[in-house]
Parts: sequence; C-alpha cells; structure tokens
Amino acid sequence: MAESLGDWKRTHSCGDLRARDIGGQVTLMGWVSKRRDHGGVIFADLRDRNGLTQVVFRPDLNPEIHRKAEAIRNEFVLAIRGRVESRPEGMANPNLPTGAIDVEASELRILNESETPPFLIEAESDANEEIRLRHRYLDLRRPDLQADILLRHRISQATRRLLSDDGFIEVETPFLMKSTPEGARDYLVPSRINAGHFYALPQSPQTYKQLIMVAGFDRYFQIVRCFRDEDLRGDRQPEFTQIDIEMSFVNEEDVMEAAERLTASLFKSILDIDLPRPFPRLTHKEAIDTYGSDKPDTRFGFEIVDLAGAAEASDFQVFKRVLSNGGQVRGINAKGCAGFSRKQIDDLGVFASGFGAKGLAWIRVTDGGMESAIVKFFPEPAQVLLKRALNAESGDLLLFAADQPAVVAEVLGNLRLRLASQLNLLNRDHFSFGWVTHFPLVEWDPREKRYAACHHPFTSPLDEDIDKMATDPSGVRARAYDLVLNGNEIAGGSIRIHRREIQEKMFELLDICPGEAEEKFGFLLDAFRYGAPPHGGIAFGYDRLIALMAGRDYIRDVIAFPKTNNAASLMDGAPSLVDADQLSELGIRLLGGESSHPRT
Ligand code: AMO
Ligand code: AMP
Repeated sequence: MAESLGDWKRTHSCGDLRARDIGGQVTLMGWVSKRRDHGGVIFADLRDRNGLTQVVFRPDLNPEIHRKAEAIRNEFVLAIRGRVESRPEGMANPNLPTGAIDVEASELRILNESETPPFLIEAESDANEEIRLRHRYLDLRRPDLQADILLRHRISQATRRLLSDDGFIEVETPFLMKSTPEGARDYLVPSRINAGHFYALPQSPQTYKQLIMVAGFDRYFQIVRCFRDEDLRGDRQPEFTQIDIEMSFVNEEDVMEAAERLTASLFKSILDIDLPRPFPRLTHKEAIDTYGSDKPDTRFGFEIVDLAGAAEASDFQVFKRVLSNGGQVRGINAKGCAGFSRKQIDDLGVFASGFGAKGLAWIRVTDGGMESAIVKFFPEPAQVLLKRALNAESGDLLLFAADQPAVVAEVLGNLRLRLASQLNLLNRDHFSFGWVTHFPLVEWDPREKRYAACHHPFTSPLDEDIDKMATDPSGVRARAYDLVLNGNEIAGGSIRIHRREIQEKMFELLDICPGEAEEKFGFLLDAFRYGAPPHGGIAFGYDRLIALMAGRDYIRDVIAFPKTNNAASLMDGAPSLVDADQLSELGIRLLGGESSHPRT
C-alpha cells in the first residue's frame, strides 16, 4: 500500500552524499534501482537523476522498518530518513560518487509500488530496442539516457546564451504553414475550417527566416523542430531539431565565422575541448576528388589519388579502356595493410562491388617489390609513377577503381570508411571539423528529367556563374556551405538570392513555371519587391551534433521520444487510425475503405 509523502522534504539528492556527510540525518527520495537481501540485512540502491545512494535496512536497528522493507522491489518509489554512515572497511565503492557512505534507514515511506519492469533499468541495457521504445519512460530512467538528455539541455541553454550574446534574437515561426521545398515530402495537416485545404509542417523555417530578414531583424535564431517525410536511418528522424540561423548584410565568411564561433564555444563550454580554428575548408570538387564524399570523414587519411598517369604508362587494358571512355583510374593507399590475407582483400572487392565497382584491382608493396596478378602489366616506369602518386612504401596495400567518376568516388569513398572502421581508426573522442563549399547549384534529376536544387531554390549562385545558368546549369556553383564533423553533415546553409529577377531565373532553371512559382512562393517574391537585404544563414542538425558530442551512433539516443525507422512511436502508437467522424469533419475519405475506426 502506497503512502503519502506528507510533509517530508528531500534534504539531498541521491547523488549528493559524501564522506563529509557521515553522521548527518538525511531524507532521500527516489526509485529502487536494486534490492538485495544479505542475511537479513536489506540493501536498496536508491536512484534519482543525480545518482545512486545505498540504503541499508537492519533488522536489529529498527525491526518494524526492516519488515516493511521486505516488501520493496525494483522501481518502487521510496522516501527514507536515516543517518549517513561510513561503509565498513573494504566495502567502499570507488566507482560510485556516493561509494564511501550508505544511509541507515530509520524511517521508510513507500510512495508507490512498481510492477516488475519489462527490462532491467541499468547502464548498459541489452534489452530489445522495441521493448525499450515501447516503455520509453522506463528506458529514460537509465543513467546513460538521462545523461544524454541532460547534455542536450545544457547544449540548448548554452546555444541560446551564446547566440543571444552574439546579437541573435530568437523568433518562433509557424508549424502550420505552406509547404517549404527542402527536398523531402511534406507532412500535411488538413484544415477543418478550410475544407479540402492543407497546411504543411515545416521541413525547415527557411522561407520564414528569410522574411524575418526582410522585416529587418538582422540576426535571427531558433531551436526549432522540422518535419520531413523521407527514408529514415540512424541519423534521420521524421521530426528533428535544427539550430536555425539567418543574418543580414553578410557574405559566406560572416555566416561561417558565426557558425564556427558557436560550435567552438559549445565544445569549450560543454566538453572543455579547444577546437583548432579556422576549420579547414574543401570545395565540393576537392571533397569528392579526395574523399569520394561531400561529407568527408577527415579523422584519418586514405585519401583518393588520381592514377591516370600510371595507368597510361601501363599495359593494363582494363584501366586504359576506362580512361579512353572518359572514365577515371584512382586509388587509395591502405597504409600498412600489405599483410591483409587474400580473403580480406577479396572481401574488400565484394564490398566495393556493392557500390557499383566492376572490380577492385590491388597491389601489395613488399620489400621484394610489388606483388599482384596485375603487376605484370606495370613496367618499371609505371610502377614508379604509382609509387610516387600513392606515396607507397613497403608494407602498403594499393587499391584501385576504374570507372566513371561518380562510381569511382562512391566506391573509393566507401572503401576508405570501411578500412578505417576495420582498422579501428574511427575514434569518437577525436572531433575533425571541416567546411565543404562551392556545391553545385543544381543537379540533373534523370527520373524527373529536370534540374533540382542541390540545396534549396533560394540558394544564390556564385556571381561569376550567373551567366552559366542559361548555358551550363550543371557547371554553376552555389554560395552554399556544409559543416562536416567526422563524416557527418552537421550543418548546411547558403547565401540567399535576394533579388527577384535572379530568383525568377532560378525557378525557370528548376522548371517551376511563373504560375507555379507565384502559387507556391508568391509571398516571398512579393516580399522581395520591398527592399530585401542581402542575407544568408545556416542550420545545424541539432540532434546529430548532440549525438556526436555524446559519443552516440544514433540520434534517437539523444531524443527523449524518438520514432522508429518506420516513423512510428511505439510508445503511444502514433500514427494511428482515426474515427470516421473526424475524417468526415475534415472532408476526407480514405481510398479503399471507409476509414479507420468504424463509427461508434
Ligand atoms: P538542410 O536541409 O541541409 O538545410 O538541413 C540542415 C541540417 O539538418 C540536419 N537534418 C536532419 N537531421 C535529422 N533528421 C533529418 N531527417 C534531417 N534532415 C536534415 C542535417 C542538415 O545539415 N533551411 C536549410 C538551412 C539553411 O539553408 O539555412 C536546411 O534545412 O544535419
Ligand atoms: P581481370 O583482368 O578482369 O581478371 O581483372 C584483373 C584485376 O583487375 C582483378 O583484380 C579485377 O578485380 C580488377 N578490375 C577489373 N575491372 C576493374 C575496374 N573497373 N576497376 C578496378 N579494378 C578492376
């Protein structure tokens, strides 16, 4: 039977007590994390968000309380009063901040009971994730998840303070809005009052933040939820959070500088890490050429090297044919990997073919020279060129891909990641930042048979490339930049188009006809008639940033109530069927059936 709290007040949290408190009377409240019965003496670890304290119920000291304590089980909610005691000789637990003491209970109130939880609430739970998500409120009791959520809180507070001190003001923007084009599908919300009409949930507040610049607020930020109906994976949730930023009268340098300052200050204040600045920069072309990716992981080497020269000098027809067909021959030097077994090398080949490789040629460099079935095609001068280009020494394993540029980048980019992971080079405590700049403005979508914006349609082309919008769209570079951390895109932004005629040119390029542009973005184009300042901004993938700072692989670990890869919330059962009445009020009829729940 649960008891009431009465007028009891906590004197300490469960993480507070130390040797200095020995002898004091305390009142603690929390959950029973573990209960043990040792020859009549009952031990209960009492847990709250600050830690654990061991509470002892002794039959000799207080038989009545001890009898009551026999009923307690894991996850019961207790209030206890007692004396802080030194743990007996040899029983102190140096791994626990409160490990020098325990509390001898002289009073006990069982504030609530608990059924046996479906999994043990402990630091490293190996319980099935589905069960944990279904009971997320229990999973969230685990100390590591509590620490992640607390870290998120601290990052939010620091972000607000840092940006506010830097002259940014926080403005909230609507969730019920007109569709924004960030490239994913919208989540739609039907309007009852305007039957047949729909709001879209923001994929980002992009258009609003630009209007805030037109309105003259100069520097805006918001920690804001975004909604995107897209294919999900470990670093993508259907709703996620951005630190969204926009600035007036700026160029790329100003935005990147502000974003770097925020990032560096967060790392200093939260993790006490001094990030070297400025962050290195790569153009999009350099990133693809050197790392095979527009979000390169720069914690390790294995850079991609062009080997056209060596291939030309060889007699290897596979490579020469690819070159004469306009393809590339490139490779990476897997430093020190000459000892890989044949099986290990074959496995790399299988991995590469998963990314479209037609083969993965390789050469071992040993004290005796180069070893491989293809060495016979490389006369001495070609070998010298290979060695020089790849900086190859005895002990290295050279890996080659020959194909069209996109395939080569994909294959070697993924191969270097795979090697790094195989060789344990992906150290989570090492934070390697870099900017990727000069993205293409648009890319050809072969399925839709039209150009699509690489970033979004409000991104400005480089001034010197504006003329190319009509003649060579794929060659136009954007004033866009991404911030990359350990191979993750953690922020992206651009300088915007602020002149109506260029915005119209962009819509034309994207095959958005004037009527459609007017219908979709008329409000923004209208605003641009009334003196839009030059402006630009950036948005951080907040969940990704926190996950990386917390050393987590998945962003769901740093989100209190995440969704599964099927965009479902297992805890509350969203999305769910709705009543037929609700649908008819909205003027909606479902295809292939009445609705949802039958009328009740
Ligand atoms: P972008 O679409 O690049 O830019 O998004 C910015 C950052 O948000 C993160 N992100 C996600 N995180 C979790 N789940 C998702 N589904 C998801 N999608 C994106 C990424 C990304 O870098 N309005 C522009 C910003 C601007 O131009 O200022 C925008 O939203 O880390
Ligand atoms: P082959 O002459 O087809 O037996 O190939 C000799 C070696 O070259 C094998 O290790 C193949 O995996 C490799 N190879 C074949 N095609 C390519 C390619 N396009 N790129 C890289 N290596 C290749």
